Amino acid sequence: MTRITLPRPDDWHLHLRDGAMLSGVLPETTRHFARAIVMPNLVPPVVTGAEAAAYRDRILVAMPEGATFDPLMTLYLTETTDPADVAAAAASGLVKAVKLYPAGATTNSHSGVRDFDKVRGVLEKMAEIGLPLCVHGEVVDPAVDIFDREAVFIETVLDPIRRATPGLRVVMEHITTKDGVDYARSQGDDLGATITTHHLIINRNHILVGGIKPHYYCLPVAKREHHRLALRAAATSGEARFFLGTDSAPHVDPLKECACGCAGCFTATNTMSLLAHVFEEEGKLANLAAFASENGPRFYRLPVNKETLTLEKTASAATWPAKIETGAGPVTVFDPGFPVFWHAID
Ligand code: NCD
Ligand code: ZN
Repeated sequence: MTRITLPRPDDWHLHLRDGAMLSGVLPETTRHFARAIVMPNLVPPVVTGAEAAAYRDRILVAMPEGATFDPLMTLYLTETTDPADVAAAAASGLVKAVKLYPAGATTNSHSGVRDFDKVRGVLEKMAEIGLPLCVHGEVVDPAVDIFDREAVFIETVLDPIRRATPGLRVVMEHITTKDGVDYARSQGDDLGATITTHHLIINRNHILVGGIKPHYYCLPVAKREHHRLALRAAATSGEARFFLGTDSAPHVDPLKECACGCAGCFTATNTMSLLAHVFEEEGKLANLAAFASENGPRFYRLPVNKETLTLEKTASAATWPAKIETGAGPVTVFDPGFPVFWHAID
């Protein structure tokens, strides 16, 4: 197969930032994607419905000419989040999910949750109205090795929260382990899991062997090869619970290429080419539509896009800029480290 047409894909986990960075990176997503779940970890975070409405307006103002793109907004869960505000923001159609960051787990997560008892009321309200909780699934206990933080989170935080809140719909965001894949598969259809493009391509060796590669550092950090293989099998399986969330997370190069570099891989530009390559390698191109275009809307109870995106394989390798120049500074595009012959036809 050298040509494949999908319903236009959506990105179920995306960082767009704000201001000059937002204007710089937004066209990279709107070129191929119809919708995205927009992460709320701005500084300060997007906590209330009013803040989400204002952020959505800023995204719409930054839209490139002629683009049709629907930013799906999320609220950042804090220990003082008001269940009634969440319910009103969901009822109006503005907000499609609430994001749980354990405090300190990742970029701009210090306002996140420390004491899970304090968010009981919000979670119960969300279970009642069917609003999904998107979870950054890593514990922050300094005693837990960074490569084990996802597996420990599933057992000690995620599973207890779900048992205590029957009916709560949860998305395990950017799973990076076989443990995550196995847990998702063992549960019912109130649990979904997103998988990023880069976690299908790199393992932890890519970050560390032959010198530190700051542009391969993200959170959750890439794990051992057998985890990557489990993610590949899950993503390409066509199973309804697994869908694309790129976690494309732009940081300007000076903040990545320094003594304490930020976490995040920027994949908005080349994700669809890379996914076609990965799915073809796995002999599963026919399941790319499920992963990138169909399973996500089904979980979020939204229609699959009517528009399409065509990907074509040619003899010449796809090219993309090494960096996107944004008003905030240069952002390096994720480099898979191998040539890719699939092109998205805009
Ligand atoms: C994200 C960011 O930069 O906002 N970074 C990352 O490595 N993925 C935060 C996140 O999703 O963890
Ligand atoms: Zn993220």
